[in-house]
Amino acid sequence: MPKKLAAGNWKMNGLTAGLDEVRALQAAHPEPSVGILICPPATLLSAVAGALGGTAIAAGGQDCHAEANGAHTGDISASMLADAGASHVIVGHSERRGEHGESDEDVAAKAAAAHGAGLTAIICLGESQAQREAGEHLAVITAQLAGSLPGGATAANTIIAYEPIWAIGTGLTAGPEEIAEAHTALREALEARLQDGAEVTLLYGGSVKGANAAEIFAVPNVDGALVGGASLTSADFSPIISAL
Ligand code: G3H
Repeated sequence: MPKKLAAGNWKMNGLTAGLDEVRALQAAHPEPSVGILICPPATLLSAVAGALGGTAIAAGGQDCHAEANGAHTGDISASMLADAGASHVIVGHSERRGEHGESDEDVAAKAAAAHGAGLTAIICLGESQAQREAGEHLAVITAQLAGSLPGGATAANTIIAYEPIWAIGTGLTAGPEEIAEAHTALREALEARLQDGAEVTLLYGGSVKGANAAEIFAVPNVDGALVGGASLTSADFSPIISAL
């Protein structure tokens, strides 16, 4: 069985005051039965990892550079994230693909760098509204998966997050049938590509909230969620974790 995971992506949100939310989440889930991950902005990673130290809640980065070090002003390497206390890193989020022009090849290189630093890579993919309306969504996401998975990917070091772009931060959530169709296609592609593809954790992301989490988690091949806005406070994130 794939491991279950509730992952929070704070995106470009959070100051040191946000550590109170981390402590509240920790208090609400002292012995969680599922994995819990918080990916704060890089400026808070050490502090969040420190606040979570010794607990079952993990900390992760939101992106990494494909190179281990060098002249890349403003960038952060996977080993730097690991050094700051991260166990995971998100790569290929649609906001990175869209705002920073990252290709599948770039994402695969970042995921490989993450693996090299001992991090679990959370590889994001998902179709646009136009691609869905054109009926291309399954072809788009399976091609993204094929292009973004690096050699050496296994269920132990790789998580896939399906995030339809039109559902991110919009309040629009893909319906259970839409999620099931996409996750089934991704599972089949993972099984065809990886020996342990059946064990890879498959997350859904896009306007997941306490009110819709249970319905989403009941969908076959959904092993958890990558949560944006509703991960910023313990009050919003906690019910999602409890529903998993
Ligand atoms: O990484 C998280 C996703 O982009 C979902 O964001 O929950 O705010 O829609 P959201």
